[in-house]
Amino acid sequence: MSEAVKVDPQTSPGLEGLVPIDLEILQGGEPLKFPIYQRLNGSRSFALVMNRRQRFTERLRAAIRTSEGLKVYTKRRFLSDYEDYLESRMGNFLSDESVPLETRSGVLYGQASKVVEGLFTGDISPKSLEKAANEASHLSMYLSLHPKALRSMMSLTSNDYYTFTHSLHVCIYGLGLYQQVFPRKSAASMDLVSVGLLFHDIGKCRVDGAILKKDGPLNPSEWETIKRHPAWGRDILVENGNQDPTILDIVLAHHERMDGRGYPNGLKGDELTDAAKIAAIADVFDAMTTNRPYKKRLTRFEALKEMGDQNRYGDHFAHHFFEAFVRMMGD
Ligand SMILES: [Fe+2]
Ligand SMILES: [Fe+2]
Repeated sequence: MSEAVKVDPQTSPGLEGLVPIDLEILQGGEPLKFPIYQRLNGSRSFALVMNRRQRFTERLRAAIRTSEGLKVYTKRRFLSDYEDYLESRMGNFLSDESVPLETRSGVLYGQASKVVEGLFTGDISPKSLEKAANEASHLSMYLSLHPKALRSMMSLTSNDYYTFTHSLHVCIYGLGLYQQVFPRKSAASMDLVSVGLLFHDIGKCRVDGAILKKDGPLNPSEWETIKRHPAWGRDILVENGNQDPTILDIVLAHHERMDGRGYPNGLKGDELTDAAKIAAIADVFDAMTTNRPYKKRLTRFEALKEMGDQNRYGDHFAHHFFEAFVRMMGD
């Protein structure tokens, strides 16, 4: 190791231009276009462990693991080089049987979470939507190849509610359910469903943050605003060049109910597509199992019970999908 990077805690409570990267996804072969740093044990200093334009080796991985801990970083100005590398590696990494499933799930969850957070906190553009859609595709490919990974992905979901984590959770739960009820559906259709699920609340970008974060019941006009997010979501996607009917349908119809008392169009029963029915279940389940400003989270068991009670007459969720969801959670 060489070139320790000193960090002034007064001016930089963070990592002074360093951003965390994932050790597990690094691989030998082509020289890397970004340097790798490691935090020195118990201090705010970082050491350069590999300069850019060098090849990563398994020996280096072992040395990093045994020396200071698992976390590695690169300089912020090389972040886009790292992201390009990650994107090019992700497909092979996720199907690499030599890497434990939990590790692969962790890397994918972490990366998808970062990208979706970027989507909800930055400007929406065809490029940012495409980047997030790629993560949805990785998720659908990974879960279709490794159905057992669903459990490890679900164990990574956080208890606190943010629109971006909620979107990712709904994508994971919804994909799991889609696979449970349609085990023979094509990879292409699963891919579209995954993108729709990930984008289902994209319209909330147009809702005033004060309404989204309000610590108490919404007044009628705030509620009317909230109810516009499915249509705004569809508009955002169409404006950015996305015309896929499956994706747009999930975004527009995820708050519809079997009895026609949902919104925005009061569709009911068979007027709802399978994908929209699945999205509705995943959406409500995640909303119940994460802490909201006005409501403490329920355990998974409590949420399923509550959803079952609410759906006694099959009036909210499609009954056979809900039963499959309960089975999936119990497996
Ligand atoms: Fe929603
Ligand atoms: Fe939602």
